[in-house]
Amino acid sequence: MLDMDQIRTTLSEHYDLKPSQEMTDATQDIYATTSRVINPADWALYAPYVVAINALKKERNAVILAHNYMTPEIYHGVADFVGDSLQLAIKATEVEEDVIVQCGVHFMAETSKILNPAKTVLIPDMDAGCSLAESITAKGVEEMRAKYPGAPVVTYVNTTAEVKAASDICCTSSNALQIVNAMESDTVIMTPDQYLAQNVANESHKKVVYWEGSCIVHELYTPEDLRAYRELDPEVKIITHPECPPAVVAEADFSGSTSGIIKWVTDNKPAKAMLVTECSMASNIADELPEVDFAKPCNACPYMKKITLEKILWSLHTMQDSVEVDLEVAEKAKLSVTKMIDLSKKLGL
Ligand code: 13P
Ligand code: SF4
Repeated sequence: MLDMDQIRTTLSEHYDLKPSQEMTDATQDIYATTSRVINPADWALYAPYVVAINALKKERNAVILAHNYMTPEIYHGVADFVGDSLQLAIKATEVEEDVIVQCGVHFMAETSKILNPAKTVLIPDMDAGCSLAESITAKGVEEMRAKYPGAPVVTYVNTTAEVKAASDICCTSSNALQIVNAMESDTVIMTPDQYLAQNVANESHKKVVYWEGSCIVHELYTPEDLRAYRELDPEVKIITHPECPPAVVAEADFSGSTSGIIKWVTDNKPAKAMLVTECSMASNIADELPEVDFAKPCNACPYMKKITLEKILWSLHTMQDSVEVDLEVAEKAKLSVTKMIDLSKKLGL
């Protein structure tokens, strides 16, 4: 557990973190990309951190890879690359800098480390987990193999390195259907997200059997809520993530990965959109899409929200916490991840 009082004291001894007109002026261009969702007083507090992180990033030869669920001050203020899980994994194979700061959850940092064992991969808070990654171990994968002999295991990237190492290939929400369809066997095991698996099964000709994990953010949505919302506002476009239960996805105008959602809203520019996913998604694209009115509600991911500007600065200052993966496990996990990346590229995804 990070000691935030001690972190704040130490950081204030090394960096000018007091809000000032000078810092606000120095970050005006960045603020312009997110002013619809961050008020000026809040930005005045963020600006010194944005300035300090961007300067320290250069000093450390570091790059910040950030998931689409990061808050807008991270997404617009300090990230060098933003994307969904597949895009972040692909980007991790292309990084030239010595240090990757992964602004996302632990499995994402682990994936970057698996793909880049020689680089330092930092995560600003080691406790940024994921309910899906916590739902299964390598033993669970072996149990599924014993139950369905000969069936390949397609494992969602939202898992630990051990689980990836025990699997045949990985998938993300943007390629799960195509990866499952590309398997030779008629039966395919999917772990650990039961809802992603059910959503894939609804569109695939394969028999999909699955582990019963779930995402604590997306499982909260109900079809009744979405129907009630649409009744109140028939114009609204409902866009879901495939980690939602199938009955929720059935109510949607579109369902896709986090970047798929951003692309759909950007391409279609609906007058009103309800993003049935994590709250920061709408905030991050609100300024680029002034014509779209983003409807609430949304659910926040408590793990993703552990990553803050303060912790990113601390991570770069101390060069901690660095993510390490056992070499033998990393080698095997890398096979599952690279198979996925290669197949995705081959399929043009
Ligand atoms: P994406 O791959 O769609 O970004 O999803 C990652 C995730 O954790 C969604 O909850
Ligand atoms: Fe995991 Fe769900 Fe959070 Fe994504 S939103 S990181 S799947 S708990």
